[in-house]
Amino acid sequence: MDHFLYRNGALFAEDVPVSEIAAAVGTPFYVYSTATLLRHFRAFDDALEGMDHLVCYAMKANSNQAVLRTLAQAGAGMDVVSGGEYLRAKAAGVPGERIVFSGVGKTADEIRLALEGGIRQFNVESEPEMIVLDRVARELGQVAPVTIRVNPDVDAKTHAKIATGKSENKFGIPIARAREVYRLAADLPGLKVIGIDVHIGSQLTDLAPFEQAYLKVADLCEVLRADGHEITRLDLGGGLGIPYERTNTAPPLPTDYGAMVKRTLGHLGCEIEIEPGRLIAGNAGLMVSEVIYVKSGEGRDFLILDGAMNDLIRPAMYDAHHDIVPVLEPDAGAEKQLYDIVGPVCETGDTFARQRLMPPLAAGDLVAFRSAGAYGAVMASEYNSRPLIPEVLVHGDQFAVIRRRPTFDEMINRDTIPEWL
Ligand code: LLP
Repeated sequence: MDHFLYRNGALFAEDVPVSEIAAAVGTPFYVYSTATLLRHFRAFDDALEGMDHLVCYAMKANSNQAVLRTLAQAGAGMDVVSGGEYLRAKAAGVPGERIVFSGVGKTADEIRLALEGGIRQFNVESEPEMIVLDRVARELGQVAPVTIRVNPDVDAKTHAKIATGKSENKFGIPIARAREVYRLAADLPGLKVIGIDVHIGSQLTDLAPFEQAYLKVADLCEVLRADGHEITRLDLGGGLGIPYERTNTAPPLPTDYGAMVKRTLGHLGCEIEIEPGRLIAGNAGLMVSEVIYVKSGEGRDFLILDGAMNDLIRPAMYDAHHDIVPVLEPDAGAEKQLYDIVGPVCETGDTFARQRLMPPLAAGDLVAFRSAGAYGAVMASEYNSRPLIPEVLVHGDQFAVIRRRPTFDEMINRDTIPEWL
């Protein structure tokens, strides 16, 4: 559920008409709902009630400072995957003891940054990374808390580009080699092994692959304990999917997920961490765009928008579906028609939807892309020298620009011309 609803035919973000934001900031832009962000965070937090747990928001989904601060104030931890994300989390007020560091390619500098600034744990993904972490920790006179990410070889049944838990993926260590790698880690004085980490993919719409992976983690936990390791924490990753198409049967809810976690892992008495990104931020955001032209092509009509693939890459990159809705509903009875919905970028891939049934639209009309709060703004680029679009946060009847649109001068002046030119 989100807080983008129609009132008398006009789309609202909480208590603010979306058209009012468009008039104030210009299109295209992203708009996020505080109430939806908090609702989704709390859904996970409540789902794990009764177990010692921390919900570490995967901030790669949406790392705007205002979004992070909103969640941090509600008690969220953060899952970070780079030095930049680590610093963003700290800047938003997240204490080091609530930050977990994931990722297959942490550099020595990033590791040092996190050790110096404080960190809850590193989710280590390989033996060479372990060696570097051990060295840096010892140089700093510290012992780094770690979980080791295992690759359970489970098919997450999601888009190939976002599945991470099969043996051929670059992530984690093969679960079959876990005992050997835990033994190696236990011998490194700069590390303290405290747990197991697993993340099998993103946009999972079925609990079965999670359950398969978590059962393997439960078995591994017992085996490692029998080997003498003190396993007290399980990081279960993120990945629970959202309903991109409202017509589909809804994916499982955080409560279903939480019940499954309790069923598969509850008996181990471990502290549980989860790293949801998409489910917290996805349906908490819209991308709003204006129709520039309606163009009649060969056997089809194109809606040419001022938003493009550089602003929201998911359709081009993953063939992702986003519901696209009018900001002002047309009169009841207006006959719907089919459009190809595209942006102005010079690539055929700059297509948001093909043959989408929409109410009749004209130049100047506003449309909203739903489910654009996760992996939207963070994946945007300035391709075609299109400025990054602004982000707006709504809270009740208030709204604020939380990242403004850069000026063309700012964009151009980021480049420097060498002396010889
Ligand atoms: N933890 C780890 C280690 C991850 O790699 C990810 C996502 C998450 C947590 C959060 O997963 P979520 O709950 O958001 O599914 N750009 C793609 C999604 C990439 C996901 C990468 N890793 C998209 O737009 O669909």
